[in-house]
Amino acid sequence: MLVLLNYKLNLIVVKTLLSFVAIAGSVVLMSFGITSNFTGPDQGKWEAPASAKELKNSRSGAESVANGKSIYTTRCVVCHGTSGKGDGPAGKSLNPPAGDHTSAAVQAQTDGEIFWKISEGRGAMVGWKLILSEQDRWDLVNYIRTLKQ
Ligand code: HEC
Repeated sequence: MLVLLNYKLNLIVVKTLLSFVAIAGSVVLMSFGITSNFTGPDQGKWEAPASAKELKNSRSGAESVANGKSIYTTRCVVCHGTSGKGDGPAGKSLNPPAGDHTSAAVQAQTDGEIFWKISEGRGAMVGWKLILSEQDRWDLVNYIRTLKQ
C-alpha cells in the first residue's frame, strides 16, 4: 500500500516536472519568436498594396486632428516620439527603426497608405485594426499630416 502511494506520488512529481519543462520550453520559443520579430533581418522597404492607395479618408477637421493627437500621445509616442520622428524611448533601438512621420517619405504617401500601415502593422509596429476603431485610425492619419515639416 505504502509502496503504491509512493509510486503515485512519484508519478505526480514527474508529471509536474514535465509540465514545467513544457511551459519553460514554450516560453523560450515564444521569446525567440518575439526577438526575431523585433530584430529580424531587414524586410526591405514597407510598401502598402496598390488597393490601399485609394482608401477614402472619412474624417476631417479640427476635432478629428485633436482626437488623433490624443491617441498618438498615449499609444504611439513610446516608439515614434513626441515629435513623430521615431525617437521615442522604445523606438530608437528597433530594427527596422520606427518611421519618421515628419519625413517626405511618409508624407508623400496617400492617406489610404498610411491608414493601411496603421491598421496592418509590421514587425514591432502594432497592427491597430483590432484595437482602434476605423474612425480613430483616420484621425491618426489626419494628425500625422500636421507633423509634416
Ligand atoms: C512598439 C513600437 C511602435 C508603436 C507603439 C507604434 N509604432 Fe508605428 N512603427 C513602428 C516601427 C518599428 C515602424 C517601422 C516598421 C517597418 O518599417 O517594418 C513603424 C511604422 C509606422 C508607420 C509607417 C511609416 C512609414 O515609413 O511608412 C506608420 C504610419 C506608423 N508606424 C504609425 C503608428 C501609429 C499611428 C501608432 C500609434 C497608434 C504607432 N505607429 C505605434 C513602431 C511602433
